[in-house]
Amino acid sequence: MHLHRYEKWWLTFGIAALIIFLLIVGIQAFHQGHKPPSAKAIVNPERVSETEPFNKPGLKKVEGKDWDYELVVVAAAFSFNPGNIEIPKGAKVKIIATTKDVVHGFEIAGTNINMMLEPGYVSDYVATFDKKGEFLIICNEYCGTGHHMMSARIKVVDK
Ligand code: CUA
Repeated sequence: MHLHRYEKWWLTFGIAALIIFLLIVGIQAFHQGHKPPSAKAIVNPERVSETEPFNKPGLKKVEGKDWDYELVVVAAAFSFNPGNIEIPKGAKVKIIATTKDVVHGFEIAGTNINMMLEPGYVSDYVATFDKKGEFLIICNEYCGTGHHMMSARIKVVDK
């Protein structure tokens, strides 16, 4: 089989581009831990306030799990409950969140923690809070007229 010179260049370029893209995706997935949201658990969106653990939003210490705390967050237009969260520095926290009404976002600015909260689904993410300071939780899914005011605060403090 005879390949024209330009065909060879194009094939080389195509294969190299494929390898580079796969490397980027692979490094993001396996080294940096990026992954699609895990919505495995469901909840009746009309009964969020009565359903465990969303009946008691906030930070709870837990024993015998791979993480030290669970942070339960309920989003609703246009706020997060709780709105002010204090986390001891170094704590490994499982964030468990859902929404009572429409789709909201849950992004901790300046980190790679970014979840979509969908009615009827429970989103979760395990993160370690190593950096002291104040972090802003913002809603990054347009959810209505108050969307731009929808935020909460995390304070990472010394134990
Ligand atoms: Cu909630 Cu935008």
